[in-house]
Order: sequence, then C-alpha cells, then structure tokens
Amino acid sequence: MHIDKGIYLDYNATTPVDPVVFHAMEPYFKEHFGNPASAAHHWGWIAENATNKARTQVASLIGAKPNEITFTAGATESNNWAIFGLISKLREENPQEPLHFITSTVEHSSIMKAMAAAEKLGVEVDFLPVNSYGQVEIETLKKAIKPHTKLMSFIWVNNEIGTINPIAEIAKIAKENQIYFHTDATQAFGKLPMNVTDLGIDLMSFSAHKVYGPKGIGGLYIRSKDPKVLINPLIYGGGQEKGLRSGTLNVPAIVGMGVAAELCKNTLEHEYERQLQLRNFFWEKLKAAIPGIILNGHPTERAPNNLNVSFPGHKSEQLLPRLQKLGVSTGSACGTGSMSLSHVLLGIGVAPDVVPCTLRLSIGRWTTQEELERAVEILKGSISH
Ligand SMILES: Cc1ncc(COP(=O)(O)O)c(C=O)c1O
Repeated sequence: MHIDKGIYLDYNATTPVDPVVFHAMEPYFKEHFGNPASAAHHWGWIAENATNKARTQVASLIGAKPNEITFTAGATESNNWAIFGLISKLREENPQEPLHFITSTVEHSSIMKAMAAAEKLGVEVDFLPVNSYGQVEIETLKKAIKPHTKLMSFIWVNNEIGTINPIAEIAKIAKENQIYFHTDATQAFGKLPMNVTDLGIDLMSFSAHKVYGPKGIGGLYIRSKDPKVLINPLIYGGGQEKGLRSGTLNVPAIVGMGVAAELCKNTLEHEYERQLQLRNFFWEKLKAAIPGIILNGHPTERAPNNLNVSFPGHKSEQLLPRLQKLGVSTGSACGTGSMSLSHVLLGIGVAPDVVPCTLRLSIGRWTTQEELERAVEILKGSISH
C-alpha cells in the first residue's frame, strides 16, 4: 500500500487500516448495519455473528478463549477499566481492606494518570524505578511486594523506547504471591508471539489501531480460570458484553479488529523477521551517517519495529521543520502533543538536556529499505544543517 506525502515512520503512534480490513468492515456500515443486541431478526443475528467471529479471531491471536475478550473503545479505556474495575470489586468485597498496587515510572500516561487517580481514592501505589533500558528489575519488584499488594501493572513493550519487559517472570512472581497481573500490551499485541493463558496474565489491554485496524476499538482480556478474575464495570447501561461494558457495540470496528488480528496472526513470524532486519539496517546506517547518535532502550530486547534515538545538541523541535517529508515522533505521540519532557526517557536516566533531542522512528507493514535509505539521508541533512 502506498502511503503518500513522504515516508511514514510513526507506526508506533498509529497505523493505516489494511485494505483487507477496510474491505471486511465496509458491509457493516451498509447492508449489515444491525444491532447485535436485536435478537428478533436477521439484521441483529448477522451483526451478532460478526462480533462473535471477531472475538474468536482476537482470542486466537493471544491464546485466550473468546469469552475472555471484552471490547472497549481502545487501550486507554482498557487500562482505566482494569485499574478502577478492580478497585471497585475489591472494595465491594472487603471495604476495610487496604489496597497496594505496583507499577513502574515508564508506563503509558493512561496507566500513570489512572494510578495517580487511584492514589486519590486511597490506594497505595508504588511506581517502581526501571533499569537504564526501561525494564522492571525482578529483585526490585520482589522487594516492593507487601501483604496487601493486590495488583501489578506493567507495560509489555514500551511505546516510546520499544523495550520489552520480562513479562513471563513478572507474571510468575504475581502468581506466586497471589497478586493480580495486568499488562498494557498495546505495543506488543500482534507484534510479538503471546499466549496469555500459559503466561498466567490476568488482565491485558490492547488496541486495534496499532495493528492496521480502525481507531476507537480495543479490548480487555480478563482471565476466566486459574484464577477467575472478577472486576466491576466502568460503564453501566444496557448490559452489553455480559454486563461488563455497556453501550451498543461498534460492529464495523469490531469486525475490523478481528480481521486485523487474523492478519497479524498469519503474518507475525514473517513480519517480525522482516521488520527486525529492516530496523537493524536502519540503525546501522544511522550510526554510520550521524556521529554521536544515541540509541535509547534495550539494544536487542525491543520491539522489532522501534528505534528511539537522541542527537545530543540538536533539539527535535528544531529538526522537525527540516523533516517535513518524514512522519516521525518527538515523544510518545500518544498524548496531546504537549512538549513536557518525556517521563520515559527521564525514567531510564537520559540526561534532561538530551531528552528534547530525541526522535522515535517506528516502521511497519509497508516500510521498505529504500524508504529507510532516503530517511537516513534526510535525517543526516537535518543534523548538518
Ligand atoms: C502502550 C500504550 N498504551 C495505551 C495506548 C492508548 O491506546 P488507545 O489509543 O487505543 O487508547 C497507547 C497508544 O496510544 C500505547 O502505546
């Protein structure tokens, strides 16, 4: 698929909808417009069947059962729901019990801010420091556990620096201590192989628009067995999604996410290798072309499509006007575009004067080597300007 007007290197922010996904969605805006909750006629049945199929497709990508997937409006909602839905449930069961949650200093803002809001509700929250790659240290985690720790929430793949957290080890510790484990897998979903059942993950957030599906649709995986995880709804109403998330289902978007998940599943291995090689090629070329360039995050334990690089002495704000042909990001680009210093880069110890000299470059399904060669020339030109 040709993405016009330059070279798009911001796939971690969002992705174009795959034409196959778009094609699959189309009938659900038109002839198959029914409401899945309409049980009395075939318009409703068709819509319901479509959402059931999508649920199966999503579940199959992550190694879950279809009934463990609840559709939401995206990962921001899923992250908020996991936290506040659990608080509500635990308080309902035992109003007097003190609650302690553990997360890290380099989470997406939808976890950082939700955890800060949880503190205001009386939950004790520890924001663990991470190592210089952005990973949770297992020993630090073990020491942070308290008798009343009820939830650990850690990002799987960091959205800014691409670093992969040791999710299997974290899940094991959570299980050993009977603590719920939630992961924000928005940047891992469809990119890394995963089996939530085997890993022992209790709650997992994901979103379609990072994997060539539409925006405004995502989901929360809620474990149904060993243990059966119970959380209260965040949104009350007509009782859709077994009463867990009310509101008429966004059928075209759900169909799109299902097909996007299936495409990811079918191409995951191949795309992982292809993008890894391209990304490594890109980094080698950048290193050779731009003296002093620094790679932030882990050199190898990182998403195959992400680079996060600093050019000390060259503020990205000043570089951007010279990078008109490149779609890149100065920060996480998932927020509102505020220019405050990245908490992730500060969290891994990047010097405050180097933080503003940073770009995130993320590749995807339609990135070519030729585009990356041109991108290196453009970046080099902007630095030597
Ligand atoms: C790690 C991570 N979590 C959460 C989100 C929010 O996802 P959404 O845009 O679906 O609300 C994003 C991206 O924006 C992300 O990268």
